[in-house]
Amino acid sequence: MTNLKHLKKIGVLTSGGDAPGMNAAIRAVVRTAIFRKLEAVGIYRGYEGLIQKQFTEMKTHSVSKIISRGGTILKSSRCLEFKEKAYREIAVNNMREEGIDALVVIGGDGSFRGADALYREFDFPVVGIPGTIDNDIYGTDYTIGFDTAVNTAMEAVDKLRDTADSHNLVFFVEVMGRDAGFIGLYTSIATGAEATLIPEVHTDINKLCAYLDHERRKNKTSGIIIVAEGDNMGNANEIAAKVSEKLPDYETRVTTLGHIQRGGSPTCNDRVLASILGNRAVEALLEGKSGVMVGQVNGQTTYTPFQEACTRHNEINKLWYEIAHILSL
Ligand code: ADP
Ligand code: F6P
Repeated sequence: MTNLKHLKKIGVLTSGGDAPGMNAAIRAVVRTAIFRKLEAVGIYRGYEGLIQKQFTEMKTHSVSKIISRGGTILKSSRCLEFKEKAYREIAVNNMREEGIDALVVIGGDGSFRGADALYREFDFPVVGIPGTIDNDIYGTDYTIGFDTAVNTAMEAVDKLRDTADSHNLVFFVEVMGRDAGFIGLYTSIATGAEATLIPEVHTDINKLCAYLDHERRKNKTSGIIIVAEGDNMGNANEIAAKVSEKLPDYETRVTTLGHIQRGGSPTCNDRVLASILGNRAVEALLEGKSGVMVGQVNGQTTYTPFQEACTRHNEINKLWYEIAHILSL
């Protein structure tokens, strides 16, 4: 294996929305780096910490027992300053002063836009790991955190179903996904929801009401409607209000699952994915790869240029959307 001669110290940060499994990825990056006789430096609060030089030396024990913890021990942030080149220059100078010669960024597509700028403008070696519950990143079948988030949403909807059935209610359950319907679609299939409203499919209030009415006439006494937060008709409260207006006999309730979906102990799938990608990210840097996101497609490690990972989107399977509908009949 060819080792980059100057590669001695690797930095790692988490950026954007936190996701369960980020800690497992940090652990894998730190331990692989140490295994490869490199030093590892943790950067607090994402790009904010790069600008403010909030660095911490990471040893093997620094990442002990974090594999089962949600959130991120390095903390995360949304850092507007980083969108300006002048601040990115400060960040690069801070890393160079500290002797950090390569960086691993764990985050979503916004974080990769920042990482790409570091790579292009300053030729700084940087590799990304997809960490977001939204699963909307091109170049990987799954992002770290998605599996945990959908399991959390599924368990919550199962509980709501009990109350919906007991009181003959129609529940509108809002799940996360500002631009992507993965959480909505998976949760819907897994809970047998009566309808799925996601950003990728245009929703029509009249069609939705006609469908609900049809279901009621078939003696369905309760229902679950999953609403992704990015749906074209609005949020779950707004949609429930419109339905109540058109179908006044319906008793509706709204539950927004919100940030509950972002927390909690990661599932086995997320821990394994994060561990493998964390290891592969360090190996990629050692092989001289840069400006790419490591992902997993059909079980194989893939390297997708940031430009592609940022501009393209992971598409939902429209057939799965139809199946969700068929199975809820
Ligand atoms: P995510 O990574 O989960 O998509 P954000 O979209 O909030 O989350 O992006 C995380 C951070 O990445 C932002 O707060 C900002 O610091 C940085 N970032 C996002 N877009 C850009 C950009 N175009 N140029 C430079 N940095 C960016
Ligand atoms: O990127 C994940 C995500 O959970 C989106 O689905 C959601 O719209 C957004 O983050 C909310 O994040 P915050 O409350 O941190 O702004």
